[in-house]
Amino acid sequence: QARYAVVGNPIEHSLSPRIHTAFAEQTGESLVYERLLAPLEGFRDSVERFFAEGGAGLNVTVPFKQQAWETAGRHEPRAARAGAVNTLWRETDGTLVGDNTDGAGLVRDLRVNNGVTLAGARILVLGAGGAVRGILEPLLKEAPAEVVIANRTLARAEGLRDLFGDTGAVAASTFEALLGPFDVIINGTSASLQGELPPLPGGLVNPATVCYDMMYSQAETAFNAWARQQGSGLRLDGLGMLVEQAAESFLKWRQVRPDTGPVMAMLRPD
Ligand code: ATR
Repeated sequence: QARYAVVGNPIEHSLSPRIHTAFAEQTGESLVYERLLAPLEGFRDSVERFFAEGGAGLNVTVPFKQQAWETAGRHEPRAARAGAVNTLWRETDGTLVGDNTDGAGLVRDLRVNNGVTLAGARILVLGAGGAVRGILEPLLKEAPAEVVIANRTLARAEGLRDLFGDTGAVAASTFEALLGPFDVIINGTSASLQGELPPLPGGLVNPATVCYDMMYSQAETAFNAWARQQGSGLRLDGLGMLVEQAAESFLKWRQVRPDTGPVMAMLRPD
C-alpha cells in the first residue's frame, strides 16, 4: 500500500486524513494516509525520513509550507513563484518535487462549486503572507479585471504586486485606502484565526459581492460575520478550498481526480 501523510505542527486537528481516505475508497486506490507531527526545528529531517522509509507523498501545512519549498529539488510551475509548497512527492530519479495546489483548490471551489465568475472580476485579497502567495498566480490566470492586495504592512503587498505583476493586473493597498465595491473579497490574513478582523473601510461590499474566508471553522468566522453585516449575498469559508486542494494533490499523486461533492457533504452535513 502506498503511504501518504500530512505534515505540520500542530497536526492533530487536520481533516486531510479523512478527506484522502474517502478519496481512496471512492476511487479504489490502495493507500494509507496519516498525520505526521514534525518538530518545529526538524521539518527537513522528518520529510527525508518519511521518503527514505518508502513514503509516496506528503501534504504540508502550517507552519512548514515555505520550508517545504526550500526542501524541494524541483518545483511545479505554479509552486515555483509562490515560494510555498503544500504537496511533495519523489520522482523515479529521486528528485523531491514540490507543488502548490492551494490556489487551484480555491479557484475551483469558487468557479466550479459555487458558480462565481472570476474573469473580468474586481478581486480584493486581504493579507500578503504565505497563504496569499500560494493563490495569486492561479487567481490571475482566471483573467480578473484587477486583483488588489491589501495588507497591514503595505511593503509586503507591494512586494507581491511586483512579483506577480507580469501575470495580470495587480495593485497594492493599505486597508484604509481601499475603494470598493469589489466583486470578490478573499480573506487570506491569519487574523481571523484569532477571531480578529483587519480594519476595513465601508463600501467594499454590495449584495453581489462574494466573500471568501480561506480559514475554516465550525462557527462563522469573524470575516464572514463582517461580510454578512456589510450585506454580502454569498459568504464562503475555506472548507471547499481544503477539499479541492486535496483533490488536486490526489490527482498529482494517483493520476485520478476524485469527486469532491460527497466528501464535502460528509464533512459538512447540512
Ligand atoms: P500565512 O502563511 O498564514 O499567510 P503569514 O505569512 O505570517 O502567515 O501572514 C499572515 C498575514 O496575516 C499577513 O498578511 C499579516 O499582515 P502583516 O504582513 O502586516 O503582518 C496578516 N495579519 C495577521 N494578523 C493580522 C491582524 N491582526 N490584522 C491584520 N492583518 C493581520
